[in-house]
Amino acid sequence: MDNAGTAVAMRAVHKAFDGVEVLRDVDFEVARGEVHALAGGNGAGKSTLMKILQGVYSMDSGSIEIDGLPVRIGSIQEARAAGIGMVFQEFSLVPSLTVAQNIFLADEPRGRSGLISDREAVRRARELFAEMEVAVDPKAVVADLGTAYWQLTEIAKALSRNARTLIMDEPTASLARHETAALFDLVGRLKKRGISIIYISHRMDEIYQIADRITILRDGRHLLTEALTDVTPEQIVEGIVGKKIESQLTYRERGHDPSGEPLLEARHLRSGDRVNDVSFRLHPGEIIGLAGLMGSGRTELARALFGIDKLTGGDLYVRGRKVSIGNPQQAVSHGLALIPEDRRAQGLVLDHSVRDNLLLPLLDRTTKGPFLSARAGRRVSSELISRFGVKATHPQRPVRLLSGGNQQKVVLAKWLGTEPDVLILDEPTAGVDIGTKSEILEMIRSLADAGKGIILISSEYPELLAVSDRILVLRDGTVTDDVPRRDIADEESLQLAVQGVHS
Ligand SMILES: Nc1ncnc2c1ncn2[C@@H]1O[C@H](COP(=O)(O)OP(=O)(O)OP(=O)(O)O)[C@@H](O)[C@H]1O
Ligand SMILES: [Mg+2]
Repeated sequence: MDNAGTAVAMRAVHKAFDGVEVLRDVDFEVARGEVHALAGGNGAGKSTLMKILQGVYSMDSGSIEIDGLPVRIGSIQEARAAGIGMVFQEFSLVPSLTVAQNIFLADEPRGRSGLISDREAVRRARELFAEMEVAVDPKAVVADLGTAYWQLTEIAKALSRNARTLIMDEPTASLARHETAALFDLVGRLKKRGISIIYISHRMDEIYQIADRITILRDGRHLLTEALTDVTPEQIVEGIVGKKIESQLTYRERGHDPSGEPLLEARHLRSGDRVNDVSFRLHPGEIIGLAGLMGSGRTELARALFGIDKLTGGDLYVRGRKVSIGNPQQAVSHGLALIPEDRRAQGLVLDHSVRDNLLLPLLDRTTKGPFLSARAGRRVSSELISRFGVKATHPQRPVRLLSGGNQQKVVLAKWLGTEPDVLILDEPTAGVDIGTKSEILEMIRSLADAGKGIILISSEYPELLAVSDRILVLRDGTVTDDVPRRDIADEESLQLAVQGVHS
């Protein structure tokens, strides 16, 4: 980084929601052409600070300068005019339109009639992608494309509006490995063009890979800003969590009895066109890790096991008894729980309170027995909130108002509250902060130690390797490898197995 100057400066920013201060006197500066990581625990205020910069929220007090000049950002339009671009986590694209139409939506190049000229939009989109040096077909309909292309479309859209600062809020959460690598290459090229990037992530390795500096927020306050060459990962983790924590990423061999009756056994399962002949046995106390590329059928397998998608073939056994699971209620009655990947859509009723969300599966259970009294409900929910460290100012307010990571904790707490025998976790640590991540891994281990069976889907290999007793590799809906953890040498050999390269 040189002295090219300050691209964005936010000073003494204060913001409260309903009387609760979530940003207190925060200073934040980004240099021209730098990648600046914004880190902090779940609920620390990262997204809120960035929503202020984007004009989504207004601050209670404080000031913003762009390229050294004071600006007033009172709306998304004003933020755009000031050169701020956003790559949304929940994408803002219209799926039924083409890539080009999406990029120029709202300010499409107009023909003489005043209508959108599709041909002009396609031409300019091609130019943009050529400048970005990425291959995207401007005529493709967005709905037909994968997440990585949605993201590239969002970036092109921001660049078409002359964004000079791009905000990326956990951009790799839904990307495959090679897509992440491609995104990082693109970030490098944008940086060379003098574009500044504010990069929010909970993944330490990514931060070290692409960021020049890091700012850490803790509980709504600015804690530090440092060059990454001047801080160690341990210092960053301690800064984010507020205390020293032990890394949970070291593999410890755990014992379970593979000779006894399995808790869950799958024989030649089929479902839709993504699950083709999957067999496995899950024993009490065992953790099975499911590895595979995006689209390999991991999530579809989880959905089929939990009765969300229909099984079209094969048999399921719970404790040796053949069962048919036609819907999630039946799955729950057989002692299964699923923590879904898409927490917002499937895991939560966003407009209901934190408390009601926590109690939902418990209420289902109590239909046979006594109803949960209001008082018992309050007690159980506050127990879960404190056990899982959910940061919720008011348990009776909608869960939608929680930060992303805290929503994830509510999903976890909600299902663990049902005390299932078999727990299927689909990317349980996506979006949670590093402190919570190690708590979740520790929790998975202790649930297994207590005799539960766990199926863990994760795209983070270190995590899979740290907790799994066995790893199944899925490809095109079929199990291509089924290996005890101790027989996997390292991350690289797992990666090769996932890609179908065998030595
Ligand atoms: N619209 C809102 N109304 C009320 N409270 C809100 C609103 N938006 C955010 N908050 C609260 O502000 C705090 C900061 O949330 P924010 O989303 O900025 O956290 P974050 O650092 O992005 O966390 P995460 O890593 O989990 O995404 C949280 O306690 C959250 O519940
Ligand atoms: Mg956030």
